[in-house]
Amino acid sequence: MLGFETSDDAAVYKIDDQTAAVLTLDFFTPVVDDPYEFGAIAAANALSDVFAMGAKPLTALNILAFPCSLGTEVVAEVMRGGADKVREAGAFVVGGHSIDDDEPKYGLSVFGTVHPDHIVRNAGARDGDVLFYTKKIGTGILASAFRAGFETDETMREVIEGMMELNKAAAEAFAGLDVHAATDVTGFGLAGHLHEMLEASGLAGALDWEAIPLYDRVWKYSCEYCRPGRSFGIINWARDFVRQGTLSDEEYDNRMGVLCDPQTSGGLLVALAPEQADDYAARFEHLTGRKPTRVGQVMDGPAGMVFIR
Ligand code: CO
Ligand code: CO
Repeated sequence: MLGFETSDDAAVYKIDDQTAAVLTLDFFTPVVDDPYEFGAIAAANALSDVFAMGAKPLTALNILAFPCSLGTEVVAEVMRGGADKVREAGAFVVGGHSIDDDEPKYGLSVFGTVHPDHIVRNAGARDGDVLFYTKKIGTGILASAFRAGFETDETMREVIEGMMELNKAAAEAFAGLDVHAATDVTGFGLAGHLHEMLEASGLAGALDWEAIPLYDRVWKYSCEYCRPGRSFGIINWARDFVRQGTLSDEEYDNRMGVLCDPQTSGGLLVALAPEQADDYAARFEHLTGRKPTRVGQVMDGPAGMVFIR
């Protein structure tokens, strides 16, 4: 049902009228020092693509590359972090594969299922839809600041907890609602993933700058160009679809540093009708104890265009 063509989060294969299989994999190099937390973040990130489709993860396979010199204790901690998140997601680790590699890498291949009529894709957002985002923005910028020595293990606590958080509740809050489109925000930043959703849906959208939830100090670091190297390429790509409007060049560039910040294990970007927005927010809050943020709106306009207002 879904393959390479669309920019969707996972492949979907219809098994019968009741069941579609959702397949995805994701892995990366360490983003934090603690091996247990690295494993948990990598697993939460890989599981996100299944949640973003409105599907339920069932099984996961470990993908592991590690230098033998690091010893089995470190590897065991990485896999324990991953296994804990898979269990929290309601799924099972059922195997995997490991190789010796100078640069550590870890992630999961995840299998899940969804009713074929309830798949939530990138395409499907409608004119007037409310856009919610379920986590805070700025994991890429803060990781850069940490590497540069501006942040400590203690000041990074909130963002590490955020990256370890599953998008399970964000997806469970879909139940009974007509969610038009959803995706997890990862390597292309909030603006990039919103663009893909809007382009697939044939519509434009607006982000309410003041509403966008940022981790502390993210704006400051963006203004100081303390950003991950990757974000500059994303900004260059995004200039074509994020409208500068009346913003000065400096203000536009500083905001783009935030909007194009690549996220590790980001939250879900969710589009649904304004009549259902309060219901979604209430369900999400019931499950997590906090509110999702209304970050913008889908609107008629050139497909994929993002306005900042
Ligand atoms: Co994704
Ligand atoms: Co992905």
